[in-house]
Amino acid sequence: MNEPKMKEFIIRDYRDEDYNEVIELWGLTGMGRPERGDDRETIERCNDLGGRLLLLEDRLNNKIAGSSWMTFDGRRVYMHHFGLLPEYQGKGLSKPLLEESLEHVRDKGFQVKLEVHSTNIKAIELYKKYGFEYLGDYRVFIIRDIDKTTSAKI
Ligand SMILES: CC(C)(COP(=O)(O)OP(=O)(O)OC[C@H]1O[C@@H](n2cnc3c(N)ncnc32)[C@H](O)[C@@H]1OP(=O)(O)O)[C@@H](O)C(=O)NCCC(=O)NCCS
Repeated sequence: MNEPKMKEFIIRDYRDEDYNEVIELWGLTGMGRPERGDDRETIERCNDLGGRLLLLEDRLNNKIAGSSWMTFDGRRVYMHHFGLLPEYQGKGLSKPLLEESLEHVRDKGFQVKLEVHSTNIKAIELYKKYGFEYLGDYRVFIIRDIDKTTSAKI
């Protein structure tokens, strides 16, 4: 099998016209679900706030093969939606994408945090290899719709 060479790919910033392909990538990799609310406006807003959505593009067919979305809240960088289309997985391509992402973090000069499902061994092994440390048995909580939440005030 011919392994892809990195010169056949570029890592570049997201552009508005990438939106539909990025949403398809997130759907095919199980990283995007409607309840997450990751729409065009959210991407733009996060990038305006100092985030960055990096894309791995196949130069042969201009296909978006992977993404790494880093948001910034003024305290830390959060890495989301790090993944590759199934046909591009298993070829070592996650490494240059992660390296470029960490270069962005280094440039910003902040901590970086991410969530990964405990059964996602591939991603866990990859993140550990690049210096991410397990924080322990934290539970992750979220309120999806604040308007549907009842007040706990007495
Ligand atoms: C997680 C993901 C990005 C890894 O990319 P990949 O193309 O599968 O992995 P690569 O071929 O680039 O391998 C990079 C490293 O990942 C780890 N890895 C890959 N496959 C692995 C496996 N089967 N078992 C354990 N570790 C594995 C290894 O550390 C590997 O480095 P090595 O080859 O030096 O051992 C990819 O599988 C993916 O996109 N998955 C779907 C989306 C996803 O779950 N993203 C993570 C969200 S938190």
